[in-house]
Amino acid sequence: MLDTISAHIRVVPDFPKPGIQFRDLTPLLADGPAFQATTAALAERAGEFDMIAGVEARGFLFGAALAQLTGRGLVIVRKPGKLPAATIGHDYDLEYGTDRLELHADAFAPGTRVLLVDDVLATGGTAEAAVTLLRKAGGMVERAMFVMELDGLPGAARLRAMGVEPVSLLHYPA
Ligand code: PRP
Ligand code: MG
Repeated sequence: MLDTISAHIRVVPDFPKPGIQFRDLTPLLADGPAFQATTAALAERAGEFDMIAGVEARGFLFGAALAQLTGRGLVIVRKPGKLPAATIGHDYDLEYGTDRLELHADAFAPGTRVLLVDDVLATGGTAEAAVTLLRKAGGMVERAMFVMELDGLPGAARLRAMGVEPVSLLHYPA
């Protein structure tokens, strides 16, 4: 199953800048059985949870698919200014500058067990910010799932330091 998934990940050299080998998930999304295999593999490793949180943008794709397969609801963690009702936000540092994620303040009841889903775990900046925000809203976040993780970057350690177990289907060198 993991072989089928990895066979549909395309390496694009020198994107977004020279020297970076970008692992592109669009061929995986485009292949029905491979996309289904991905969702099934995530579901097998998901543990217990009440709702899924997907992070804009690519986390929406796998988060929504997993929500459908498991019959759970989906919460969306968005980039700033996109959500219409009252929001809570969290600002976080990037290598250069800052970024922000937002969540509807009433997205779930306090105490809800929320499973975070995104496509890639790299530096962990996005996932750490999303977990912080979900917890600010009263969510209980114990696990975060990714289709792939880039080893040699601090993402997994950053999540473990927050008491979140990172679960990634595939590992690649950064
Ligand atoms: C990408 C990817 C993850 C994040 C991982 O998102 O989809 O969300 O980076 O990197 P990190 O662990 O270093 O934070 P990005 O915001 O680049 O683009 P997207 O809107 O296409 O998901
Ligand atoms: Mg993303």
